[in-house]
Amino acid sequence: MFPNETLRLLNERSSLRNFSDQEIEPEKIELLMQTACNAPSGGNNQPVSIIKITNREVREKLGELCWQPFIGKAPINLLFCLDLHRNQMIADYGEVPYTAGHAFRHFWISFQDTLIAAQNVCTAADALGLGSCYIGTIMEHFETCVQMFALPKLVVPVVLVVIGYPASTPGIRKKFTPEVMVHEERYQSYDPEQLYARYTERENDKHIELNDNNLQVFHDVCQAVKGKEYADELIERIKQRGWLSPIQRLFGLHYHAATMPLGNSKFIAFLKKQGIDWFDEWKMLDDSVLDLGEE
Ligand SMILES: Cc1cc2nc3c(=O)[nH]c(=O)nc-3n(C[C@H](O)[C@H](O)[C@H](O)COP(=O)(O)O)c2cc1C
Repeated sequence: MFPNETLRLLNERSSLRNFSDQEIEPEKIELLMQTACNAPSGGNNQPVSIIKITNREVREKLGELCWQPFIGKAPINLLFCLDLHRNQMIADYGEVPYTAGHAFRHFWISFQDTLIAAQNVCTAADALGLGSCYIGTIMEHFETCVQMFALPKLVVPVVLVVIGYPASTPGIRKKFTPEVMVHEERYQSYDPEQLYARYTERENDKHIELNDNNLQVFHDVCQAVKGKEYADELIERIKQRGWLSPIQRLFGLHYHAATMPLGNSKFIAFLKKQGIDWFDEWKMLDDSVLDLGEE
């Protein structure tokens, strides 16, 4: 079906959460790390660092923190960090001003660079018969990561990736097709009914059973965001129907609409502490020469 192995790997990949006890051969680990370093990078600035964690206790601690014990079972955990520190050092030594921590432009590109390097590693892992899973939940423990891994200023963790051999082959999750996600030449508008149908189809038209607990959580989330009347009325309709839909589970029970926006200021304070402060307005001492352009 696919014209070559690369395309098959990319199209038939899936996240692995069930790791076997098999260790990863050192030469494979080296290849993974090399593949990370050879990823595309804006301006080839490579503002990315990877903390390679093999120590079992540390992996288990990360698993505990993220409430996902399989993290500890994966023989390698990789913490992908956006790293402006290294280029700061090179710039200081090489005698040129560098203002990356103050610049959204640097931040935006480095964030992309970090994830591209991570995805290169995940694809390489698949190609080596290994499997991987991103762990976004690490974001709740950025401060702990700074302490645990001695991250200096201008280095911020972005995402954790866990890698190992599969104990069993994971199923492939259904995805939106290009018809939904690709817009020919300009953004297409969606018909809500058709779009919703595509979503439920992607989620195998699952019906999530009701119980006192999930109904209560769903109600509380709806009430917190849209008020009691909305929540009472919606719960009544759901009870009559007898189940929650996948999208209701996703934003009503899992990524709670009521709690997701909480803590924004904590994340900003963390970035600021790490020396990333582009959200403040920055003006250089002497901007009368800013029209010079680049070489
Ligand atoms: C940025 C990001 C963060 C993720 N965080 C987690 C996580 O914390 N735990 C987990 O089990 N899976 C996590 N995943 C994996 C997704 O759940 C998974 O990619 C998605 O369900 C689609 O399944 P697939 O990767 O098998 O296609 C994450 C994926 C991405 C890209």
